[in-house]
Order: sequence, then C-alpha cells, then structure tokens
Amino acid sequence: MRRKLAAGNWKMNGTGAALSELQTLEQSHPAPTVDILICPPATLIHRAAQTVGDSIAIGGQDCHAERSGAHTGDISAEMLKDAGATHVILGHSERREDHGEQDEDVRAKARAAMDAGLVAIICVGESLEQREAANTLDIIGGQLSGSVPDQSTGENLVIAYEPIWAIGTGKVPTLDEIGEVHDFIRARLERRFGEGVGRSVRLLYGGSVKPANAAEIFGVSNVDGALVGGASLKAGDFSGIISALE
Ligand code: G3P
Repeated sequence: MRRKLAAGNWKMNGTGAALSELQTLEQSHPAPTVDILICPPATLIHRAAQTVGDSIAIGGQDCHAERSGAHTGDISAEMLKDAGATHVILGHSERREDHGEQDEDVRAKARAAMDAGLVAIICVGESLEQREAANTLDIIGGQLSGSVPDQSTGENLVIAYEPIWAIGTGKVPTLDEIGEVHDFIRARLERRFGEGVGRSVRLLYGGSVKPANAAEIFGVSNVDGALVGGASLKAGDFSGIISALE
C-alpha cells in the first residue's frame, strides 16, 4: 500500500514569519494518517525543520548535481539533508523554464539526491501547445526516461505530474485526463523497474489543487497525493487538502 502524500511547494515565498503557518498546520494534524511535506525556500529549511516535529517533513526545491565545489549560489543534496530536509523537488517546470534545466540535468540531480539519502520528487508535465497537439504522453514518456535515474528503488522516488498550463492558473485537467497520464506513468515505471518498484512509487498530481477540488482529484486512479503551490502557503487551505487525502 502506498502511503498518501500531501506536499506543499512554497516556491519563492515566505520569510521567518511564515513559520507560524507550519505551527498551525501541525496543530491541525497532530497525528496525520498521510505524509505531509512542506518545501519552503532554502533560507527557511533549517528553521522549518527545527520548528516542526515528526508529523511534517521538510524538503528543498532544487539541489546541485555535485556534492561540493565552485558553484556560487548553489546547494548540494548533502547540505539539504544536513539542514533537516528529507525530500527535494527536482525538474519543476519553473526550473526547466527559468534555468534551462534539461532531463539529463534533472537525472544527475536526482542521482545526487538519492545518494545523499533524500527522496527525489521529479516533476514532469506538458505545455498547452503539447497537449493540444496530442503529444502529452510522448512528452511525459520522454521526461520520465530522461529524468528518472536507474537507482530508483521506489522509496527514494516520487513523480509529480504537473501540466504546465494548470500551474497557478486555476485550470485543471479533467479527471479522465489526469487518470490517463497517471496510469501511463505507472505503466512506464513498472515496465522499467519491474512491478514491485514500479507500483511502490508515489504519483502526485500538481496544478491548481485547492481544498474545493482535492477530493475528486484524489479519487482518480494512481493519484497518491498532490504537489501544491499557492494553496500550501496558508495552513487553513493546505489543511483542507490534507483532510481530503486522509
Ligand atoms: O509545484 C506545485 C505547483 O507548480 C502547482 O502550483 O499554485 O498551481 O498549486 P499551484
């Protein structure tokens, strides 16, 4: 049985004052029956990890592929781990877009994350043009083969399906469209890693998930949780999404 996962991606939002949201969230879910993860900006990871207890995990939003060296401004997987992170989001479309990250970069980062003992949350997703051209599954298939490293064991990997056109737009694919992509990802993972590993990887949906639409999305086959942007910033909203998953 895959344990459900509610993951929040704060993106470039939040200073120390935002840590109170974590405290509120923790008070609302003192003994959660699903995994809860918050990925704050790098500047807050250590404080966030010190703030929360075992009921909320903390993650990074990116890491470098190398362990150390002359890479001004970058952070290694080992450093994230040292700061208290257990997970790291990799290959988010905003990083692919803003920083030109390619599948092979994401794969190298995921390898580094797994080597450091972090769970790699690898993001895949198509643009609106790609969906309209009926290329969604080809794009997702290519991103999976290119970005997911061979050493994935199931426990150290999460895949987040985030259609680019649904991020922060209020637009959400139909439930059938979400199901089609998630079933496809599951089949691809099983084919590559075998049934045992392939079935143990958790698949998250991301893109305009809100308390109001979470329950129906969580009812779709092979959706094991969500990667949430805007609605993870306020404890009340994220709590509604967590409750829909429980
Ligand atoms: O990584 C989460 C994300 O890109 C979705 O953002 O704001 O549409 O929930 P949002």
